[in-house]
Amino acid sequence: MLVNFADILKDAEKGNYAVGGFNTPTLETLKAVIDAAQEMNSPVMINHAEGDQCVVDIDVIGPLMIEYAKKATVPVAVHVDHGLTDDFVLRAVRAGFTSIMYDMSAYDFETNVEKTSKFVKIAHSMGVSVEAMINEMPANMPGKGMTIGWNTERTDDIPLSEFFTRPGEAGEFCERTGVDALTVSFGTVHGKYVAKPVLDIQRLTEIKAKTPNTSLVMHGGSGVDANQVRDAISHGVKKINYYTAMTTAPAPEILKTIEGSKDPIYFENIAQMGYEIMKEKCMEAIKVFLNKD
Ligand code: 13P
Repeated sequence: MLVNFADILKDAEKGNYAVGGFNTPTLETLKAVIDAAQEMNSPVMINHAEGDQCVVDIDVIGPLMIEYAKKATVPVAVHVDHGLTDDFVLRAVRAGFTSIMYDMSAYDFETNVEKTSKFVKIAHSMGVSVEAMINEMPANMPGKGMTIGWNTERTDDIPLSEFFTRPGEAGEFCERTGVDALTVSFGTVHGKYVAKPVLDIQRLTEIKAKTPNTSLVMHGGSGVDANQVRDAISHGVKKINYYTAMTTAPAPEILKTIEGSKDPIYFENIAQMGYEIMKEKCMEAIKVFLNKD
């Protein structure tokens, strides 16, 4: 069933688990995520990032996402990931997306507050929930290729801690904007980790203390070990974005199949393999996010 993310995040706060936010720019990822969530009996968020507009337009994938959400046996929020322009996020609202990440993190703090507050008023008047972010979080996504508005390869050597969210700023931002959820940075990056990620749980605890009425979101869930993910959930994170590990999982298996085959390779068989492998990865992630054992 199609739901608003404020509702599923409220339940996650009560139940001390996190809802996975998975990007679904292809039919195979969309089916994989919905089927994984149904099999795990877990609520889920399906995301379309503005950066993936060059993979597929929201006019094409949006109605499919909404249709799959409506038909699902579990609660599904249809969400914009990293909405960078007003034009795009308003298109998403009109298309029926139930939540938007309005990402004005490239702007300075005051401009971000001003833009986000205005957007929250519009979105809330239409029953749409809003996630926001302060301070840009680095990305390291070699091989991603097609993307819009993102610097996908990390070439600087600035320590990751320089990007960590400052608790006082987080508190002030949430109070002044009224956002439903805030993406916080305390040790993750988008994409591939160069060194094993170490989450700063003390920092997360301090952020949570300043943002008691806002759900906290961790981006860059791929590659963080299960114990650290569970620790983050127990200290305030209730939505986790996860994509790279899922979307890069099929390639090695597909390569083996292609190399081992003397027959012509039918693309639909490759696509089906991709679906099955991504569904498994998604189920693995959801199992950790449910935070049960
Ligand atoms: P990963 O691809 O690193 O898992 O991050 C996904 C994400 O945060 C999308 O916003």
